Amino acid sequence: MAVDGPAAAGKTTASLRLARAFGMSYLESGRAYRVLAYEALRNNINPTDQAAMLALCAAVGGRSRAELLGLNRYTSGELRTTEVGRVVSAVAKIAELRTRVTNTLRAWAAGNRRSIVEGRDIGTVVFPSAALKFYLTASVETRAARRVAQEESGTYQEVLADVLRRDQADLTRAASPLRQAPDAILIDTTTLTVDQVVDRMSHRCRDVG
Ligand code: C5P
Repeated sequence: MAVDGPAAAGKTTASLRLARAFGMSYLESGRAYRVLAYEALRNNINPTDQAAMLALCAAVGGRSRAELLGLNRYTSGELRTTEVGRVVSAVAKIAELRTRVTNTLRAWAAGNRRSIVEGRDIGTVVFPSAALKFYLTASVETRAARRVAQEESGTYQEVLADVLRRDQADLTRAASPLRQAPDAILIDTTTLTVDQVVDRMSHRCRDVG
C-alpha cells in the first residue's frame, strides 16, 4: 500500500495506525533522504555535490540496507531537526540517489509483502502497481501547526517556512516530483480527525482484502 502527500499531511500517524490494525509492516521512506541529509551535515558534505552525495549513499547503504532506510542507528530526534529539514530537499533532488533509495525500498518490500510505504513518489514511481494508493493532503497552515504540536524543533513561523519550501521543492523537482497517482484515493485531512482519516482508509483496505 502506498501513502503519498506533502509534509505533515498526517501520513505517518494514519499509516502507523492502519499498519497496526491490519498487521502490516510500515516504512517511512523520507527517513532515507533524512539519513543522507543528516550524514552530509555531520561530514561537512555539500548536499548539492552529487558525486559526494552518491559516495555517501554508497557508504551508508554499504553498511546495511536498514541503515540507509533509517531503521536503526538514527533517532527521529536526529533526523527531524530544522537543519536536516533545510537540506533534505536538495538531497532528494539528485536523480541517481533517488534510484538507489528506490532500489533499496523495493528490496525491503520484497521481504515485507504486506506493507505500507509512505513518502512522496511511492504510488507514482517506487510501487506503481501497489494494491492500494492514498494521497493525503491538508492546508499548509494546518500542516505547520501539526508539526509544531508534535514538538518538531523550531517556532511556528520557522516550521511554516520549512513546510512551504519543501512543498515547493518536492513539487517542482525534475526527478520524481510529488504528484497524486491517477489511481490514488485523495483525502484532504484539514478538517478531519485522525480517527476519521483512519476510518476512511480502513474502509478501502477492507475493500481490497
Ligand atoms: O516525509 P519526510 O518529511 O520525512 O520527508 C523528508 C523529505 O524527503 C521530503 O521533503 C522530500 O523532499 C523527501 N522525500 C522524497 N521522496 C520520498 C520521501 C521523502 O523526495 N518518497
